[in-house]
Amino acid sequence: MIKAGVVGWPIEQSKSPIIHNHWLKKYSINGSYERISCEPKDFSNCINKLIELGYAGVNITVPFKEKALEISNTVTDCAHKIGAANTLTFKDGKILADNTDAIGFISNLRTQAPEWNADKGTALILGAGGASRSVIFSLLNEDTPKIILTNRTRERAENLAVKFGKKITVIDWSDISLYLSDVKTIVNTTSLGMLGHSELKLDTINLNSETLVTDIVYNPLRTVLLEDAYKKGCTTVDGLGMLLYQAVPGFKKWFGIEPKVTKALRTEVLLAL
Ligand code: ATR
Repeated sequence: MIKAGVVGWPIEQSKSPIIHNHWLKKYSINGSYERISCEPKDFSNCINKLIELGYAGVNITVPFKEKALEISNTVTDCAHKIGAANTLTFKDGKILADNTDAIGFISNLRTQAPEWNADKGTALILGAGGASRSVIFSLLNEDTPKIILTNRTRERAENLAVKFGKKITVIDWSDISLYLSDVKTIVNTTSLGMLGHSELKLDTINLNSETLVTDIVYNPLRTVLLEDAYKKGCTTVDGLGMLLYQAVPGFKKWFGIEPKVTKALRTEVLLAL
């Protein structure tokens, strides 16, 4: 039996087991995927134990995504650049670290908004945390000509501009509305709009109906940002697809089949939110 799972602290909230178990059943694979709780001080030992137990690999979630890079033997370019890993594969006692959030982000947009292209124009990214790094990597990889980056704490955005280069321009959080009319893509990577957090309210008066607006928040599925943009005629894409698509490469590596993201999977995960 092929074993995999997701390691985090706390881990109860993770939706990854629902996704992977849906696919294990669908493809009749003799495998398991479970939640693995690990105290922060034990992370390295926990991974070594999983290797000894013969696990094929694991997903990594908060707070271990950076630590996972440090303990790995090989790191993909993508994980290295993003500075975090969410997918580890174990082979011959060695650890390979990857980050699949960037591919998850772009796959979601490609399927939900097939007419949209990243290279069409400037993107505005809100937020400068871990999720923002994956989105920046993804958009630059897709030849987005320019990225306007803004964050409540400006310094964090400036640090990312240094890391990702000349295509990034940092603006003040209070100036967002000045830039809305000229961008082709808007991405919220902050926790604003998430259940239990404040809403993200943009001054949509300048928002252009040609702009694609997407949120990495998926609970609630339709955030105030998406609803406001929708009312202005924009194409809007929710964040659930990113969660589903980021799981595809790990499943393929560990269980040997490239799984499909279907409506049935989406519904099952939605019901568990
Ligand atoms: P993640 O790894 O999921 O991106 P994170 O690193 O904690 O999580 O980042 C959360 C993001 O949401 C940050 O950009 C954060 O802004 P700060 O860097 O200023 O903290 C942003 N964020 C959280 N609460 C916010 C709020 N009330 N207003 C504006 N931005 C907020």
